[in-house]
Amino acid sequence: MPIPKAELHLHIEGTLEPEHAFALARRNGVVLPYADSAELRKAYLFDDLQSFLDLYYELIAVLRTERDFTELADAYLARAAEQGVRHAEIFFDPQAHTGRGIPIGTVIEGLARALDSAEEKYGVSTQLIMCFLRDESAESATSTLDAARPYLHRIAGVGLDSAEAGHPPSKFHEVYESAAALGLRRVAHAGEEGPPAYIWQALDVLGVERIDHGLRSMEDPELVERLVRDRVPLTLCPVSNVRLRAIDTLEEHPLRSMMEAGLLVTVNSDDPAYFGGYVGETFYAVHEALGLGNEELRALARNSFLAAFLDHDEERRARYLAEVEAYDFG
Ligand code: ADE
Ligand code: ZN
Repeated sequence: MPIPKAELHLHIEGTLEPEHAFALARRNGVVLPYADSAELRKAYLFDDLQSFLDLYYELIAVLRTERDFTELADAYLARAAEQGVRHAEIFFDPQAHTGRGIPIGTVIEGLARALDSAEEKYGVSTQLIMCFLRDESAESATSTLDAARPYLHRIAGVGLDSAEAGHPPSKFHEVYESAAALGLRRVAHAGEEGPPAYIWQALDVLGVERIDHGLRSMEDPELVERLVRDRVPLTLCPVSNVRLRAIDTLEEHPLRSMMEAGLLVTVNSDDPAYFGGYVGETFYAVHEALGLGNEELRALARNSFLAAFLDHDEERRARYLAEVEAYDFG
């Protein structure tokens, strides 16, 4: 069994495997512009974040019913459990569905059904984080939060994702203020492709508690000092960074120097169906490429539970942390 860990940066739509996409397309009468799943897989070569997002949004068209969302999340949770995931905080992109006429309730209730049975079926505790698409307007984010109001008991927090360049966090100042007033936790993608200034804004303007990616933090020593001082977790996705060409090779990933700088970093899969690796495989990849030893992998697993939104259940966090300490690499 792989080391117990939490996954904190995972887009549920990014877990849609090509075979499942074709099965859903058939069931829902959606025509995909690929002959079959093998041909679709060949399209999984990306130049940057946008080229990936184009395919990601194209395939989302096959998700239509509550059952589709339940199946999607259930398949992820089964797979995550096999890779040692004990707790998952799962992103979803409501606007990618409401924008094509799927009610937000269909999305949330569908996902929630799978999450509700995950502890019993797979031994995985779960939370949902609703992301706003930063390449849509601030007004659209606000109406999405409004539409989600009947379902807020299902939602732990809000996030910010999609195309980063030219869409600074400050654009979403108001909706984050509303989310905070509603008692929601706040995270945001920043510094995946965008500059360190976007990470500063996410912290100081949006008041986020974690930075998703934060890959470019190391370019700004003052920012590193701030992130270390305030123990702000970074949810890194090293394999995603290579596949979306933010860096050339995994060997060049700053993960090790970030750990040495005292940053609270975690390792996650982002969109595993597209990037060729779930979180257990991602742990293995950084072990191989960066030479991280067992105690460094244990530190990453420990960090994942320290960074998780488990403040309402510290007993659970302590239990997970004890599992990490007791883990025998064999
Ligand atoms: N949506 C899904 N995956 C994403 C990523 N890696 N960055 C920004 N938005 C995303
Ligand atoms: Zn992401």
